[in-house]
Amino acid sequence: MTYVVRRTAPGEWRELRALRLEALRDSPTAFGVTYADAAALPDEDWRQQAELNATSATSAMFVAATVDGHWVGMTGCAPLPDVPGTSCLHGVYVAPAHRGGQAGLAARLMDAGIRWTRDNTDAAWLTLGVHEDNQRALAFYRRIGFTATGKIVPYRLDPAKKLHILGLENFRPAAAR
Ligand SMILES: CC(C)(COP(=O)(O)OP(=O)(O)OC[C@H]1O[C@@H](n2cnc3c(N)ncnc32)[C@H](O)[C@@H]1OP(=O)(O)O)[C@@H](O)C(=O)NCCC(=O)NCCS
Repeated sequence: MTYVVRRTAPGEWRELRALRLEALRDSPTAFGVTYADAAALPDEDWRQQAELNATSATSAMFVAATVDGHWVGMTGCAPLPDVPGTSCLHGVYVAPAHRGGQAGLAARLMDAGIRWTRDNTDAAWLTLGVHEDNQRALAFYRRIGFTATGKIVPYRLDPAKKLHILGLENFRPAAAR
């Protein structure tokens, strides 16, 4: 199947909401918010998020669309306000029918977020958080070059569970940090 991977446009808040809610329904423990909380957000919040994703100098959202324009995957990138010099990838999702396989869609989405962050921000480090039970995502992130940072924090929706913080090994040359 052919996909277009691109940054989202400012007016695409309905598509953003639909795919995000699909992701939260599909994988309730993979993200840091609940479906119920996200579904309750007013349209204005989604409009603002879509605007930010499309126009911010430091944050962006990339989506994968089929040739008929249907969104089937997403990856966001944004600075971590509490960790200077660090950006993160978040909201990584590929619809079940489009996972695995030759297309490598998840890797293409990650690559878009990684390249954009490298080329457009001063971030020295790029990280992401993975739920301890999310073995598929852990295997995927390791395959594309993420390794354990040693940081493990409570998972927001269930503090008895852990979120493993991974970092991208070759995000910047060591000399550039
Ligand atoms: C995480 C995600 C984007 C990865 O995309 P994907 O297309 O599934 O990734 P791939 O199939 O290319 O790679 C997954 C790897 O996990 C392996 N895998 C699959 N199921 C697995 C399981 N139950 N346990 C362990 N490994 C598993 C696959 O074999 C593959 O590893 P390999 O390339 O070494 O063979 C996608 O699975 C997804 O959207 N999941 C739901 C949302 C989510 O968890 N997002 C991440 C939040 S941190």
